[in-house]
Amino acid sequence: MCAASTSAVIAVFEFLDSTHREIQQQLRQLHQLVDAIERGGLNQAARDKARRVLTYFNGEARQHHLDEEKHIFPSLRTSPNPEVVQAAEHLTQDHGWLEENWLQIAPSLEAAANGNLWFDTQELRHALEVFEALYLDHIVLEEAIAYPEARQRLASHDTAGMGREMARRRTLLRPEVMARA
Ligand SMILES: [Fe+2]
Ligand SMILES: [Fe+2]
Repeated sequence: MCAASTSAVIAVFEFLDSTHREIQQQLRQLHQLVDAIERGGLNQAARDKARRVLTYFNGEARQHHLDEEKHIFPSLRTSPNPEVVQAAEHLTQDHGWLEENWLQIAPSLEAAANGNLWFDTQELRHALEVFEALYLDHIVLEEAIAYPEARQRLASHDTAGMGREMARRRTLLRPEVMARA
């Protein structure tokens, strides 16, 4: 493999890894938000935090799942190792469960962002715990099996194109990034 494609592969996986760190950071923000609402209700800071977390999981996190489903998981399905093929299926199913869990959380955050407290914070906390546990297990499986395997299998592919596509999706999502470019 040439040096350019080696660095393209490294860049793609660094980007995916950094997204995992960001997802975990947003989950922590969500915990802080629920704690803050329980302590003091909805002030402007809590409303702003609710909006930021809502925007992140509605946008960036979903894009991350699409990136993996398009660029990472297909390469695993052709593996001769059944454990790897099974991991790809499991991870794809997880994305569906994560989406379902997120749809239970999002309306409460939308309400909080708009200054409405009609939702039950205990129920929100419980939904968050389910969402977080699944997300963290999912990330562990991706980093332990899916990414290392995909990194090897994609080494001979056009990962520069893959990296460009991931970056382009996010630029479309965030016009201010385009403006800075
Ligand atoms: Fe994933
Ligand atoms: Fe992931």
